[in-house]
Amino acid sequence: MNKLIVSLLLTVGISGIAHAAGDATAGQAKAAVCGACHGPDGNSMAPNFPKLAGQGERYLNKQLHDIKSGKRTVLEMTGLLTNLSDQDLADIAAYFSSQKGSVGAADPKVVARGEALFRGGDLAKGLPACTGCHSPNGAGNAAAGFPHLGGQHAQYVAKQLTEFRKEDGGRTNDGDTKTMQTIAKRLSDEDIAAVSSYIQGLH
Ligand code: HEC
Ligand code: HEC
Repeated sequence: MNKLIVSLLLTVGISGIAHAAGDATAGQAKAAVCGACHGPDGNSMAPNFPKLAGQGERYLNKQLHDIKSGKRTVLEMTGLLTNLSDQDLADIAAYFSSQKGSVGAADPKVVARGEALFRGGDLAKGLPACTGCHSPNGAGNAAAGFPHLGGQHAQYVAKQLTEFRKEDGGRTNDGDTKTMQTIAKRLSDEDIAAVSSYIQGLH
């Protein structure tokens, strides 16, 4: 393991917030409005709407709090979370987390490069392997709040990496350690396209 990943792992692990425990059954009813974009079971059809099915509960809960508070901007969800309580958000997170995520396919033309990056990183660029936090099969680490990536739409993944990479604005809710911002700034456009496609087919 290189130094970057060790220091990131140490700092990310202690930055979690405690949230109320979620009830998946109660969450299903509360998530009805979300299904229009994310799919009733969290497997969205449109490539710009992220799949939520099978995503880690802790990660989902954190994103919902960040979107609600404006720490993460999602224009499509403007106002949707305003009237939901912490318990509602926890229940919805538990519901989507309990669903089974679907998997797509990788583009054979870029899969080799995507796989090499995901599994090995790029020493010359100081880029850690994605597997260190997101696990070899892309399942993530639910307890640590590292998101599940396997099977996620490539278009959505590429957009997130591009947002994390932006010098101004973009997605900045990756904690005080700026783990993903640091990593994304070392990725080229070609790297992003290849690793996102690989992730879409990963399971
Ligand atoms: C009109 C479409 C739409 C609706 C309705 C909607 N969302 Fe979203 N949601 C989005 C889009 C688009 C994104 C990704 C934005 C981006 O690219 O960063 C997103 C992102 C998310 C994320 C972050 C996922 C991740 O992997 O980081 C969560 C969690 C989420 N939505 C939950 C919900 C919940 C819960 C509801 C219902 C209360 C809901 N959404 C309703 C469009 C929608
Ligand atoms: C040191 C741990 C670590 C490493 C290594 C790492 N990530 Fe992440 N990643 C995270 C964390 C933590 C988050 C969640 C940030 C947040 O809370 O918003 C994340 C979020 C993401 C997201 C957003 C997921 C979503 O649903 O919106 C993508 C995409 C992603 N990482 C891709 C990668 C790729 C590709 C690599 C390898 C090039 C990588 N990550 C390496 C820790 C890591």
